[in-house]
Amino acid sequence: MAGMAAFSFFFTTFIFSFVSSERYEPTWESLDSRPLPSWYDENKIGIFIHWGVFSVPSFRSEWFWWDWQGNQPTQDVVEYMKENYPPDFTYADFAPMFTAEFYNPDQWADIFNASGARYIVLTSKHHEGFTNWPSKYSFNWNAMDVGPKKDLVGMLADSIRRRTNIHFGLYHSLFEWFNPLLLQDEANKYETDDFVTSKTMPELYEIVNRYKPDIVWSDGDWAGNYTYWKSREFLAWLYNDSPVKDTVVTNDRWGWGCLCQHGGFLTCTDRYNPGKLQKRKWENAMTLDIDSWGYRRTATLEDYLTMDNITQILAQTISCGGNVLINVGPTKDGLIKPIFEERLRQLGDWLKVNGDAIYGTNPWTYQNDTYTPNVWYTSKKVETETNVYAIVLEWPETDTLYLAAPTPSSATVVTLLGYSYPISWRKPSTHPNGIEIVFPIIPFSDMPCQWAWVFMMEGLVN
Ligand SMILES: *[C@@H]1O[C@H](CO)[C@@H](O)[C@H](O)[C@H]1NC(C)=O
Ligand SMILES: *[C@@H]1O[C@H](CO)[C@@H](O)[C@H](O)[C@H]1NC(C)=O
Ligand SMILES: *[C@@H]1O[C@H](CO)[C@@H](O)[C@H](O)[C@H]1NC(C)=O
Ligand SMILES: *[C@@H]1O[C@H](CO)[C@@H](O)[C@H](O)[C@H]1NC(C)=O
Repeated sequence: MAGMAAFSFFFTTFIFSFVSSERYEPTWESLDSRPLPSWYDENKIGIFIHWGVFSVPSFRSEWFWWDWQGNQPTQDVVEYMKENYPPDFTYADFAPMFTAEFYNPDQWADIFNASGARYIVLTSKHHEGFTNWPSKYSFNWNAMDVGPKKDLVGMLADSIRRRTNIHFGLYHSLFEWFNPLLLQDEANKYETDDFVTSKTMPELYEIVNRYKPDIVWSDGDWAGNYTYWKSREFLAWLYNDSPVKDTVVTNDRWGWGCLCQHGGFLTCTDRYNPGKLQKRKWENAMTLDIDSWGYRRTATLEDYLTMDNITQILAQTISCGGNVLINVGPTKDGLIKPIFEERLRQLGDWLKVNGDAIYGTNPWTYQNDTYTPNVWYTSKKVETETNVYAIVLEWPETDTLYLAAPTPSSATVVTLLGYSYPISWRKPSTHPNGIEIVFPIIPFSDMPCQWAWVFMMEGLVN
C-alpha cells in the first residue's frame, strides 16, 4: 500500500508539474524567469571548439579575415597575405583548402570524454559566415558545398552521442563581418531586418531542429539590439516548442543590452573570472592558446596554458559558482594537435582523482580562504551533512597548511582525495580560529596527482 501511495504521489506530482509548466513570453522578464536545466550547473566543465575557414590561414586568430580586410587592418596579417598569396586572392579562396581530410569525430569524442568534460560547444558558424553544416541559408559558403564536403556538425553530434554521455552544444554567431544584407540593415540604422529574417533566424531554427543541441551559445551580439535580432522570439520558441525545450541552456549574447544581464547563464566577457560569488549562473569561456580561439600555427609552448594555470582557473571559477568552457582550435585538416590533447587528458587525469570536488558541487560560505592564498572551496550536501573541499593550488613549504575559514568540531574528518591514509589535523596554536592540516609525507608513487590537491573536510561546524 505504501508503494501505491508513493506511486500515486509521484504520478500526481508529475502530472501537476507537466500541466502547470508555463509558457514563456518573448519578454526578458518571462525568459529570465526560466530555471536553467539542472544538468548544466551539475556538469561544470565543457570544451569549446573553434573551427572554420579561419583554421586554414591559422595565423593570428579566428579574426583573420577582419584583421586582413576590416576597418582597421592589422599590419602582420596584411603583410602575410602580400608575401604569400597572389594579389587577387580572396578570403573565399581559403575555403577549398579547408580539407578536413583527417577529421575523425570518434577520436575527438574520445579525447573530449577523456578530459572529463561533460558538454561541448562547437562553432556551427563564426563571424566569417561559413556554416559547418549544410545550411539551406548559406549557399556555397558551407562545409558540404565547399572545403570538407561533409556535415562537420552532424558528424560530431553523432559521435558524441554514440560514444559518450557528453551534452552536445552549438556556438552560433548572429552577426557576420561582411554579409551584404547585414551591411544594408546597418546602413538603414537597423530599421530593416532582412539579414535577420533571411539568414540569422532561419539558421538558428535550422540547427536546433536538425541537431537538437543542449546548448545554444550565441555570439556576435554587438551589431544591433535584441529587438533587431528577434532574440526574444527565438528564445520563447526555444523554451516552449523546440525539440530541446526541456534540456536546452543558452547564454547572454543576444544583442545590445543583453550581455551580463539577460538570457540563460552569463558570460559577460571572454575569460570572465570575477573571483567572487555571483548571483546568477555564469560561465568562464577561456582558451588554451592564450591569444587565439582558432588554431594558430605560430603559437609557441609559452602561449599555451599549463596545467597549473588550468587548475587555478578551474578552482576559482567553480568556487564562485561558474562553469568553465575550455577552448581548443583544431587544424584545417581536422586534427586536434597533441598539445591540446595532452592538456585535455591531463585535466581528465586530475578530475578522475578530484572530480568529487568539482562535479555536482555548490559554492561554500567562503570561496577562497580568508588567510592562506591559493586555496579555493567548494561544497556538497551529503544527506544532512555538508562536505567542504579545499582545493590547494600550491604545496605548502612547511608540513602544515593553516586554513582560517573552516571551523572544525571534534567529529571533523579530513581526507586527501586520491590518497588512502587518514590525514591528521589540529586546532591551530597561533591563530584563534581555523584548522591546521598536517601535510603527509607521500612517496612519489602514492602521490594522488601532480597539480592541485584537494582536502575533503567532513563534520565542520560552519
Ligand atoms: C568516458 O569517460 C568515462 C569517465 O572517465 C569513462 O568511464 C568512459 O569509459 C569513457 N568512454 C569512452 C568511450 O571513452
Ligand atoms: C532597437 O533598435 C530599433 C531600431 O534602431 C529601435 O527602434 C528600438 O527602439 C531599439 N530597442 C531597444 C530596446 O533598444
Ligand atoms: C600561468 O601560470 C604562470 C606561472 O604561474 C603565470 O606566470 C601566468 O600568468 C599564468 N597565466 C594565466 C593566463 O593564468
Ligand atoms: C581571495 O580572493 C579574492 C578575489 O580573488 C582576493 O582579493 C583575496 O585576496 C583572496 N584572499 C586571499 C587570502 O588570498
